[in-house]
Amino acid sequence: MELKKKVGYAAAEYVKDGDVVGLGTGSTTHYFIKRLGKRVMEEDIEILGIPTSYQSFLLAKSSGIFITTLEENDIDIAVDGADEVDSNLNLIKGGGAAHTLEKIVDSAADKFVVIVDGSKIVQNLGKFPVPLEVIPEARRTVNKQVKEYGGIPNLRMAKMKDGPVITDNGNFIIDVKFEIIEKPEYLEKELNSIPGVVENGIFAGIVDEVIVGTSEGLKTLKK
Ligand code: A5P
Repeated sequence: MELKKKVGYAAAEYVKDGDVVGLGTGSTTHYFIKRLGKRVMEEDIEILGIPTSYQSFLLAKSSGIFITTLEENDIDIAVDGADEVDSNLNLIKGGGAAHTLEKIVDSAADKFVVIVDGSKIVQNLGKFPVPLEVIPEARRTVNKQVKEYGGIPNLRMAKMKDGPVITDNGNFIIDVKFEIIEKPEYLEKELNSIPGVVENGIFAGIVDEVIVGTSEGLKTLKK
């Protein structure tokens, strides 16, 4: 928890007065958003936030960050967490089922910064399953097609609600376990070509910088 806080706070310093900021989702960006709200209060800077989920929307509101939309503004900087980061700075995201809007916001930003603790760094993606946001009617046909790519699909079930997770967009999440993912940019495109898949959790080639929290301190990884 301490490392997540450190990287979240460090990323909040990247934001400049007047920036429009993409607000990622998860337990790491929680600290980023809280710290950004504190800066807005204490430093009299003007920031507009574009949330990536109901979670980040509600947290931004309660932290004093004004909200805007992609309809009204471009994004200067987006800060988001990740479930895995490989040696080429490709990601798996979607552990919190928010990857569709995260990908829209993160890829639209002039600068995309990822914040993680060291446990998320891997050589190749694939230990973590790839989440697919799927139109409910397509569950069975998507399952069949991901198996043709060597994936093992698993419908994500909710906690504190009976039945499956329902995303902020009203869809299912199918987590697909692959062996080592050697060509993430290829798999990302292939998975999105399956009818009924809204978006998958591979983020290939869009990261500018990663801030990693380790017991020896913070490290930054750049392309
Ligand atoms: C949300 O769906 C995810 O993409 C998160 O951004 C990702 O799972 C990282 O979350 P944590 O910071 O909670 O590990």
